[in-house]
Parts: sequence; C-alpha cells; structure tokens
Amino acid sequence: MRDATPQTIYLSDYQPFGYLVDEVALTFDLDPHKTRVKSRISFRRNPEAEDGEFFLHGEGLKLISAQIDGKPVTPKVTASGLTCDVPDTPFFWEAEVEIDPKGNTALEGLYMSNGMYCTQCEAEGFRKITYYPDRPDVMSVFTVTINGPHPVLLSNGNPVAQGQNHAEWHDPWPKPAYLFALVAGDLIAHSDRFTTMSGREVDLNLYVRPGDEGKCAFGMEALKASMKWDEDVYGREYDLDLFNIVAVDDFNMGAMENKGLNIFNSAAVLASPETSTDDNFERIEAIIAHEYFHNWTGNRITCRDWFQLCLKEGLTVYRDSQFTSDMRSAPVKRIGDVIDLRSRQFAEDQGPLAHPVRPESFQEINNFYTATVYEKGAEVIGMLKTLVGDEAYSKALDLYFERHDGDAATIEDWLKVFEETTGRDLTQFKRWYSQAGTPRVDVTEAWDAGKGMLTLTFAQHTPPSTATPKPAPQVLPIAVGLIGPDGSEVAPTRVLEVTEAEQSFTFDGLDERPVASVLRGFSAPVVLKHDLSKDERLHLLAHDSDAFNRWEAGRTLARQSLLSTILHGSAPDADWLDALQVVLSDETLEPAYRALMLGLPGHADLASTLHDTGETPDPAAIHRAVESTRDAMAARFAEVLGDLYTRHTVDAPYRPDAEQSGKRALTNAAMSLLTRVQGADRAQAQFDGADNMTQQLSALAALVRSGQGDKALADFEAQWRNDRLVMDKWFGLQVSQAKPDEAAAVAQRLTEHADFNWKNPNRFRAVFGSLAMHHAGFHHESGKGYKLLADWLIKLDPVNPQTTARLCSAFQTWRRYDVDRQKKIEVELDRILATPGLSRDTTEMLSRIRE
Ligand code: ARG
Ligand code: ZN
Repeated sequence: MRDATPQTIYLSDYQPFGYLVDEVALTFDLDPHKTRVKSRISFRRNPEAEDGEFFLHGEGLKLISAQIDGKPVTPKVTASGLTCDVPDTPFFWEAEVEIDPKGNTALEGLYMSNGMYCTQCEAEGFRKITYYPDRPDVMSVFTVTINGPHPVLLSNGNPVAQGQNHAEWHDPWPKPAYLFALVAGDLIAHSDRFTTMSGREVDLNLYVRPGDEGKCAFGMEALKASMKWDEDVYGREYDLDLFNIVAVDDFNMGAMENKGLNIFNSAAVLASPETSTDDNFERIEAIIAHEYFHNWTGNRITCRDWFQLCLKEGLTVYRDSQFTSDMRSAPVKRIGDVIDLRSRQFAEDQGPLAHPVRPESFQEINNFYTATVYEKGAEVIGMLKTLVGDEAYSKALDLYFERHDGDAATIEDWLKVFEETTGRDLTQFKRWYSQAGTPRVDVTEAWDAGKGMLTLTFAQHTPPSTATPKPAPQVLPIAVGLIGPDGSEVAPTRVLEVTEAEQSFTFDGLDERPVASVLRGFSAPVVLKHDLSKDERLHLLAHDSDAFNRWEAGRTLARQSLLSTILHGSAPDADWLDALQVVLSDETLEPAYRALMLGLPGHADLASTLHDTGETPDPAAIHRAVESTRDAMAARFAEVLGDLYTRHTVDAPYRPDAEQSGKRALTNAAMSLLTRVQGADRAQAQFDGADNMTQQLSALAALVRSGQGDKALADFEAQWRNDRLVMDKWFGLQVSQAKPDEAAAVAQRLTEHADFNWKNPNRFRAVFGSLAMHHAGFHHESGKGYKLLADWLIKLDPVNPQTTARLCSAFQTWRRYDVDRQKKIEVELDRILATPGLSRDTTEMLSRIRE
C-alpha cells in the first residue's frame, strides 16, 4: 500500500492515546495466503488523554468482521486504519481479519521465510497483522492462540497449552505491540537451562531449520554469558520461565528483541568454526547480548514514542559494548567501535541525512534506525558515565530501573535520574540529544617553561546543518594525559569538562615540555584537530600509555602519509613506517592490537578528510595511494611479517575467543601483505589447508585481490554451494576484492548467478552493500556503479522498501565529489525518485539526500 502524500510526524505533537488496553487475545489460523487473525481487546477511556477518538492502525488487512461487546459494528476503514463509534464505558473490541503472509515480501508484519511463519513488528509492523493502537505507549497483556499444521508454534511469554497443531501462550508482562512475535514451522530446538540469581530456572531454546543444528552451540553459550553478565553488572534478572531465540533466513535487520521470543537474522546467530569467521563469532556474541539486554532496556522499560528510540537503542548498544569489552579486549573493542563510528556515523552526521540522536520529525520511522540513534546514542551514554563517574552511573541506573519499570519513558526521564542522583544540571548536556552534527574541536597548546606550565585551549564548533542550523556549545568530556620526553607518563588521565565555545585548562609542576595525549579512549565523539608535530606523534605512537591514543597516533601518521601520497604523489612516510615496525615486533602488545595497527584508514575516511580540508577527493587517486602504501609496507616489513606469521599461527584446535582470533587477525594481515611481494603460494597453501572459515576466507580474499583466485573461488563455491550464509561471503568477497574498474561488472555478473536470490536481504546486501562500500569501484568515473545500484534499488523497492531505503545511504556523501560525479549521481537519484509508486521509505531517504 502506498501513500501518495507522505506525512511528517513531529515529536512536539505527541498526545497520549485516548484508550487504555487491559488485555489482548489473539487467535491465528495459519494459512500461507489466507491467515485469519481474530482479536479480542478490552478498551477503556484513558483519563490522561483529552482526545477520545477511537482510531486503530491497520494496513493491508482484509476486514472480515468487527464487533463491540458482541454486537456487529461497521467501522470506517482507510488505507492506514479505522475509526468507529464506541461506548463511553469500558468495552471489548473484536475483529477478524485476513492477511497474506506468503505474499508479504517486505518482511514486516507476519511473513513466510523458507516455509516458516515469522514476524517483525518493530517499529510499525503490528498494524499489518491486525487493527490495533500500534504505538509503543499502549501496553497490554497478550494471550495468543495459534492453530496450524506445524510442529513448532511459538509466541511471547510462557506456554499455557500445547496440542496437536495448536498452542496457547500467555505473556504476563504488559508490552507494546512492537514486541509481539509469532513463529510457526518445522523447527529443531537446541536447548539448555539457566538458573537466575534468585534461583529461577529458565528453559532456553535456540530454534533453527533442520540442517542448522550444528550451528547453535556458540549462540547458546553467548546467551548464558549475557544473562549472567546482566545480573553481575546491572543486577538485572530474567523474568519468564522460558527464553526462545529463532533463526530466520529472510530478515531486514540483525535481530529483534520480542519479549521472550527473540527473532534473529540467521547470519546474526548461526555459527560454526567451518562456516563462520572470527568476526562473525564476535558479532553474533554481541547481537545475542544486545537483544537479551533489551529485556530490561527496551522491554521492561520501553519508549513513549519512536522519537525516544535512542532511549532503548543507545543504552543497549552501550551495554553490549561493555559486555564485549569484558568478554574480550577492551582497547581492541574500543578501537573497532571508533573505526565504525567514524565511517558510518560521522558520514551521516556530516551529510544531508544528519539528525539528532533524538530526531524531532520523520516520515518513515524505519529510516531512523541509524548509526546516529544507535552508535552516537551509545557514545552519549559513555560520555555521561565519564562525567558522573562509575559509581554515580550505577546509582542512576538502579533508580532508572526502579522508577520506570513498566513505563514507556522519555529521554527527559532518563536524564532526570542522573540529575537526581548526582545533583548535576544536565540542561546543556541534553544538547547531545537535540543537536545534529559532529563537533570540531581545535586544541592549541601554550608552554610556559619558566612556570613549568602547559595550557591547553579548546575551541569547539559544530558545522550547521538543516536539522540544526544554529548549534550551541556542547559538554565535552576530554580525557587528557601527558607523556614526558623520556616516554613516561607525567600526568595521568584527567577528564577536562569543556562547556564553552572556547576554554583553557592548565597543567603545572612540569619539568620539561610534555606531549599531550588528548581525547584518550575517544572520550567524546568529535573531530579533533590537534596540531602535533610528526615527532610528537611518533612519541605517542611509541609511548602513550593509553592504548586507544597510541593506536590513534599511528592512525593519524598513516592518514597524513596517505594524504601526501594522494595530493603530491609522495612516497609513504619512512619515519612512520619505521615506528610502526617497532610496534609490530613488540611482543608485549596483544596480536589483535597489532593487527589494528597494520590497518589503514578506509577510502571513505580519506575522502572525508580531503573534503574537510577543502580538497575534492578523487576515488581513483585514493585507491592508488592505499595500494602503493600497502605495497610499500609489505616490502619494508616482509621479514617481520614472515616472522609474525610463523610465530602466531594457531596450532591448537579452533576456538573463537579473543586470544586465538587476535592471532589470526595478525597472521592474516601479515599473509595478505606478504602476498603482494612474495606471490600467492602462502595464501594458496593456507586456503588448501584451512580447517576454519577465518583462515579459508582470508586466504581467498588475498588470492582474489592478487588476481589469482579463480580456482579457489570455484573450489569454494563447490564446497559451500548449499550453505546460504557461506555463499553470502562468496558473493560479497568477489565484489569487495574487485579492481575498481571491474567492481560494477563483477556485481552485475553475480546478479546473473543462479543463486542470486535478490529478494533475500542478506544476498542482496552481499552484492550491493559490498559494491556501495567499494569506494573506488562504486565511485568509478564511468558512473556504472551508480547506475547499477540505482537499477537494482528501483527493482527492489516495490518488494522490500526497508532494505531499499537503507542502501540509499550509499549516495549520502555525493556532494563531496567532483561536478562530473555529482551530475551522474543526480541523474540516478532523480531516476529513482521519478519511479511511479516509490515507497515512502525510499522517497524520504532520497529526498533528504537530494536536498
Ligand atoms: N530493535 C531491534 C534491535 O535493535 C532492531 C529493529 C529494527 N527494526 C526496524 N524496522 N528498523 O535489535
Ligand atoms: Zn536494539
């Protein structure tokens, strides 16, 4: 169903719903094309609401019958819902609707995936299942009956009756409709148990399709670890007798935290050493934790309206990042998060899609499940914790859980618990929620040798955007430490609280001028400009006690070296390479950290830096510079890399833990570089001998990049033809490792492959997500990358608007590039926008990008 005139919804228009819902009873008679849904819902007037209009959302439903207190009624039905005359006293609404799960390719509401029924209701999918006040502040207790010829019939809460082709479920916890879920199919359970801190026994099941049983063990361990961690660290206990997870092959996102019945994209939960990489394992562990943690931050305390999305998402991402830091290496996790933040969130915050962590308006809420809401939302919580301290943070969280349990809450509620527990005024801090844009922070130093005093002056400025035309100064917690000339730390980390547009801080009692290590741990999500000399950066790279800033010093040196290669054709900076070599050989540093040191800033990151300094990025020149720098690294480090490869090769049986995966990250970074100077034998040998996907896939990538991967690609395909998730990697890798002038053609050729099932979001993204991420390929001067992506977005939009709209962000940085490229992109944007019946999702994204 399409809206001709998309409506804009505003935070400032919030009104509570006119009715309260005490109970919901749903009965599903499952059928692929004609599922019947009966609802019986008790309504009474909401004393806190002025407006008593009885409006129920509903989209794409065939209304069979409707009754109030048992008497037939004739509601007024539109494309978005219905209204009806209702009594002043409490009443029961009953309706029967028919829906078509098999025809539901948008994967929102009740749909079918590989023969199983499943649901995705967040944010506004429940209205595609039945008529209901589909808004998060309407919470109710649900009882669900499912009839259908399937061995497994699941819904939220606890089972109350199970029979042949029949099941009844009751969820005692009031919840908004977006947390409703239903699953039915021929599924196999991988089961376990967990005893909570108060002694409650919880049955745990991970349901998968037959054939995937061998990929459940890791996810189950991650679930138990998450349950334990949330008890230990946040004092949060699970609250039902049962916790179910289901793996689904067709899913728009990673996963969904439905109460007691989490539904996962199979790529985000199924794992085995043979089929999953170390990165997959780490991501799966984090997503399982994320969805589980939502049980408290999201479900027990939910959001009043969708503008408050960061209330649950920012906090839950923050919590899952703490979990990963505790389970694995904290510095490695932090560096990975910052790389990700810079590449996805900064790009968003500095382009036409910029919006505050708490947006103030939207047309399609699905377009706001963004890096800004999630990742910047998590950064904001990290800053809050840094400002108030760990102990106050814990107290504030305890109060939050105690006060708001069972509520649909707001950011105001959230900040208030911090103000009350700490006595702080968070008025200015709240700008982190209301202002779009990444603050630029300039640091200048003044050294007074006579007094032994160093003064740091911070000037902050956020570039204006459509969302925030006049940004005001924000509260910036800037962690700073000082490193003496001998490399020792002369001042430990101190958090400076910058609140003014310009503000100075002094450090005294210093014998000699130190090197300032600023923004340690990336304590605020800002772009820092600190004009250190090359020697000072080399000093930090050699000595900084803050692992993040030590890495950052190397990163900045790498960026500067690459920029002068791009702009002036200079050879890579030899001093940086020498210093890097010392770090690489330092066996006191963990391998995963050294692997990160070997990484270079991404192409898009370099394009952004060039744009920032007033240059027009040339994607081909960026590609050449990165390639020649890698060649130079390979040549210069060959001996060290060969040594690292031998020294850190893992002989023990495969474990996906931090230690082993760190070693593999380092040896594979070494192997990949060595392929540039020593030919492909090492990669081929690794490929042939691999007994796990990490080793196999990284060897394959090196082979394909070196142009010697044809046989390995064919062997890989023959081996993994029947494994969807592994084949996604095969599709994606060919695009990501293609030469820039071949990337679009490779993607095009892959779309002709018999297994290119473009209606499956994972497969579509494997090809087109990889193309969009291939900077030099996507932005190839011919414009063929733009055109191919546009062709396929036009094709996918009527089938799956959500996945289409997400991929539109590939175009968000288009104004950075030269006039020729801009013109080519503009043609494609306009071509998509002119498509008749274009979805609200894609229309909103492209109109914002096009602005
Ligand atoms: N709440 C889910 C999560 O963070 C994501 C759901 C996204 N849904 C959507 N329609 N955009 O885990
Ligand atoms: Zn989430």
